[in-house]
Parts: sequence; structure tokens; C-alpha cells
Amino acid sequence: MTSAADANSPWHEVATLAQLDPDFPIGVEVQGHRIGLFLLDGAVHALEDVCPHAYALLSQGFQEGGLIECPLHAARFEISSGKCLNEIGQRDLHCFPVRVQQGRVQLQLQRPAKDVA
Ligand code: FES
Repeated sequence: MTSAADANSPWHEVATLAQLDPDFPIGVEVQGHRIGLFLLDGAVHALEDVCPHAYALLSQGFQEGGLIECPLHAARFEISSGKCLNEIGQRDLHCFPVRVQQGRVQLQLQRPAKDVA
């Protein structure tokens, strides 16, 4: 599930809604953090992009049926919640607060300090 927005965190503009495709996620980098943007049922979701198992970008994986599958060893995660669905994925993905304003996709980093790479 997308994290709640934090009134004290800045919003970072990362893409336009027109760039997003429900079949093809995109990856962006914000202040050194790689984040995947996923369009699902008309809503934008922002999840950490690096697979927790090893180094692969989930935004280069296969999006289908509300899930993203890692392109390297097929870990699967729920896009709406970041929930890890099989053991190889190791843990749930962090979800970032995201909003769309006038067609521009914005997100907040807002990660716990221990998760910041
Ligand atoms: S790198 Fe994603 S499942 Fe191995």
C-alpha cells in the first residue's frame, strides 16, 4: 500500500502521467534512490526499484495482473502494496507516497533511515 504523504517532506516531480503505460513500468532516480513507477487501474504506484534478492530493476520486469515479476529470478510482488509473494523476493517492497497533479507524477522519498541506501 502506498505510504501516507508527509506534510513535511518535499514532493519530487519524476515523470508525466502520459509517460506511464499499464504494461511497461518505468524507473526513475531521485536523490540516488531508484524507484519504479507502475500504472495500475489508472492509479500510479511508486515502489523501490531494486529487487531485494539481488541486483535487478523491477521496472524492467514483467507487469501483469497487478503483479510485477523480477526479470532476473522471477520474484513477484503486488504492485498495490509492495507485498512479496514468493520466498525468493525475501521481503516486501517499500512504497513511496505518490500523487498526480496536472498530469505530473510526484513522489516523496520518506524512507526510514535504516532503509536508505
Ligand atoms: S534479483 Fe530479483 S529475484 Fe533475483
